[in-house]
Amino acid sequence: MSATPIKGKPLADRLRAEVAEEVKTLGRVGLVTVLVGDDPASEVYIRLKHKAATAAGIDATDVRLPADTTEADLLARVSELNGSDDVDAILVQLPLPSQIDEEKVIRAVAPAKDVDGFHPLNAGELYLGRPAIVSATPRGIMALLAEHRIELDGARAVVIGRSDIVGKPIAHLLLQANATVTLCHSHTQDLARHTLDADVLVVAVGVPALVTADMVKERAVVVDVGMNRTDAGLVGDVDPAAAELASAMTPVPGGVGPMTIACLLQNAVVCARYRTGALVYPG
Ligand code: GUN
Repeated sequence: MSATPIKGKPLADRLRAEVAEEVKTLGRVGLVTVLVGDDPASEVYIRLKHKAATAAGIDATDVRLPADTTEADLLARVSELNGSDDVDAILVQLPLPSQIDEEKVIRAVAPAKDVDGFHPLNAGELYLGRPAIVSATPRGIMALLAEHRIELDGARAVVIGRSDIVGKPIAHLLLQANATVTLCHSHTQDLARHTLDADVLVVAVGVPALVTADMVKERAVVVDVGMNRTDAGLVGDVDPAAAELASAMTPVPGGVGPMTIACLLQNAVVCARYRTGALVYPG
């Protein structure tokens, strides 16, 4: 039997329509994205984010800086955006060119305007179980699992990948949902031993078909966060043949991807509420 596809678009469309209503109620939500250089993948992501933001009525400004921008110049730009009342939410697209220390830039964004949820304060609140702004992809995954009524309480959840953007935050969100969480990474020995135990398997590593069908437990729920551009097109981190064993599985493309953008827009609304005082930023 083939797995039920956990499609992202229907829920993402609903969330985006809700965001559009909230933007109307708020009057204006200002999002500024900053792209340094001309990385083609980043350009695609920025274009998609702007299209979605504009469609939801968000006032989105696309700041483009040359590839040789200095760290000091970028930090000055971020500081200006932090101080502007017209700006609710700031997104600095990663990766940044090598002359710029990404960590410094992430720390420089005002935590209440950090639409990505990457600032250590936002990461810290999440890890302490008091989510403030949570990065969009993990939030999108949790929303998809809830929408499909996937039982997490007491489930064995295995996450592959320990990135700050997906692996670490999704592990914490699953833990908060009372799953028993194992976080696997590039040094994990005998990966299959872990994955074969997973009721819920989340894969976010960026390696095409890292997880093969023989690594998936029968009736497991599989969330594939991978978006790998290959000669064969866009493929995930999980071999599609795993759908023969899983009970439900996200397709690539069309699974987690649309949710990331919808949740980013939701985060922009959260930032706007912080700025207007409708929500109080923790601390
Ligand atoms: N680069 C890849 N994914 C992301 C993301 O979610 N946010 C930002 N700012 N950069 C990224």
